[in-house]
Amino acid sequence: MPATVVAGNWKMNTTLNEARTLAGGVRDLAVNAAGVEVILCPPAISLAAVRDMVSGSGVKVGAQNLHHEDSGAYTGEISAVMLNGVCQYVILGHSERRQLFGETDQQVNLKVKAAFSHGLKPIVCVGETLEQRESGQAARVISGQVGAALDGVAPVDINGLIVAYEPVWAIGTGQAATPEGAAEIMGGAISETLHSLYGSSSAAVPLLYGGSVNAGNIVDFAGQSCIHGALVGGASLQADSFMDIVRLAGETKGAGS
Ligand code: 13P
Repeated sequence: MPATVVAGNWKMNTTLNEARTLAGGVRDLAVNAAGVEVILCPPAISLAAVRDMVSGSGVKVGAQNLHHEDSGAYTGEISAVMLNGVCQYVILGHSERRQLFGETDQQVNLKVKAAFSHGLKPIVCVGETLEQRESGQAARVISGQVGAALDGVAPVDINGLIVAYEPVWAIGTGQAATPEGAAEIMGGAISETLHSLYGSSSAAVPLLYGGSVNAGNIVDFAGQSCIHGALVGGASLQADSFMDIVRLAGETKGAGS
């Protein structure tokens, strides 16, 4: 059974001081997180401060992106080498990066490989658009994104991999997928693709649902056996609402018991 994981993607929110305050709030409530892997993904400029705030609490830290090269003339970019030691996780292939910044499957794949080769655990995001869903292509699109992101990644490397299913139409809209609809893709296209690539070891990969997750719907998502946690956007920007989600996810999955 994979670990129960709840990650907060702060996106481009919080100043340095706000990030410290939010991370401190999460740390103070971390006693409620028994058995749940809690990951905070602040803007890159606040990673080190958030790491320092949560130090010793068990709360982990993740970046929201990286550049696949180790170093060089890539103004504005941050590499896996630089993130190593500052955080343990990195969100890769988020739909906002794919849609707003033109990130391709091939680039996501390079980033996933860079993350693994520098000891970072990638949270690989996949998700279909509303148009793709309505034309019946969701499963095909998701299988394609998972396969492309992991192309050439050896089985020995997938220890630490997390996959997040975030349907584009559910992100920031208040219109979450139904738990059954999410489970159909996660227990279907995602699990099957991972299994075809990695066999039985794929069963240890945590699968997160993301898209308008809140304290009111997390129990229904976590109640699905193929959903092992959540990637939370808006509701991760308040320590108490985020830690309510963590607590409820843990209770529903029986984490730590
Ligand atoms: P919301 O929870 O705000 O819908 O965002 C989800 C998301 O994109 C997390 O990565």
